[in-house]
Amino acid sequence: MADTAKVIKILKCISAKIRENEQFLTDLDAAIGDSDHGINLARGFKKVDEKLPELADKDIGTVLKQTGMALVSTVGGASGPLYGTAFMKAGAAAAGKNEIDIDDFLVLIEEAIGGVKLRGKAERGEKTMLDAMIPAAGAMKEERSKGADVKNILEAGVRAANEGVEFTKTIIATKGRASYLGERSIGHQDPGATSFTILLEAIEEEF
Ligand SMILES: Nc1ncnc2c1ncn2[C@@H]1O[C@H](COP(=O)(O)OP(=O)(O)OP(=O)(O)O)[C@@H](O)[C@H]1O
Ligand SMILES: [Mg+2]
Repeated sequence: MADTAKVIKILKCISAKIRENEQFLTDLDAAIGDSDHGINLARGFKKVDEKLPELADKDIGTVLKQTGMALVSTVGGASGPLYGTAFMKAGAAAAGKNEIDIDDFLVLIEEAIGGVKLRGKAERGEKTMLDAMIPAAGAMKEERSKGADVKNILEAGVRAANEGVEFTKTIIATKGRASYLGERSIGHQDPGATSFTILLEAIEEEF
């Protein structure tokens, strides 16, 4: 179970981890993009951090929606609108809620994926963040259906997200700047799939 205070704690942990990995994410983007993924997300989550104190007495839907809006307004590039949409969609699904359990969380992640797909006009297998998000959601649902506890469900999600990142090394990018490289994008992991995995690790630690 997570209440607003816990969701805020999770968001702080996401922000800290993304900012710790700023250089790593930027280096990944240097290989197949324009060297700004870590910089973009660090800027966005700094803004999220600044906004969190004023959200302490709000419902979870509002907290997630405001997080999404902060990301859209501060992160340039593709990932700002994509992560922003993901959080805003999750926020819409959590509207009015002061507590969420793991089943609610699984709904929020599906909503987030739907938002990214729609906004990015992308599917699984195009070497994007979706290649971590979709398998992670699938693995978590499967663990849930087996009656696993929260810890095991989230662990399965992180494992599948990491496998998804590994998979992105084997495929050609067909979305974003990395697609300009064609075959030469093979061998490199996708920065967005990597940042999503870091984000899910923070959720796993704090949920
Ligand atoms: N259409 C899309 N759908 C889903 N994810 C995408 C899409 N385009 C890019 N991405 C994700 O965004 C990441 C790049 O984010 P970044 O912050 O570097 O923005 P950017 O430099 O504007 O991106 P890009 O050069 O890919 O358009 C990629 O690694 C990928 O995971
Ligand atoms: Mg980039």
